[in-house]
Amino acid sequence: MQWIDIGSVNDIPRRGARCVATANGRIAVFRTGDDRVFATEDRCPHKGGPLSEGIVHGSAVTCPLHGMVISLEDGTALGPDEGTVRTIPIRVVAGRLLIGIEADRVRAA
Ligand code: FES
Repeated sequence: MQWIDIGSVNDIPRRGARCVATANGRIAVFRTGDDRVFATEDRCPHKGGPLSEGIVHGSAVTCPLHGMVISLEDGTALGPDEGTVRTIPIRVVAGRLLIGIEADRVRAA
């Protein structure tokens, strides 16, 4: 696995997200109101909605298409819904966001 710098944590507003295109697909990177960061596939397990355009609340995101709520901690759907989105390793080092992916290239979306 490679750790790839995708920018400053400050590039993402609190309770916001951005999308990063990688050779392994689109990754949604989230920042919570208390400055934790998470990354998942940018694809809702329901019908593929762009989770990076969803609403971040607590440590979850609500899909913009049909309102499924996904835990950012483990990628599982909360409440009555079922489904799982793949989570991506992410860490913050000296204010920089690093995601762990298998690909050898990444570009900003
Ligand atoms: S595509 Fe996300 S809730 Fe339907």
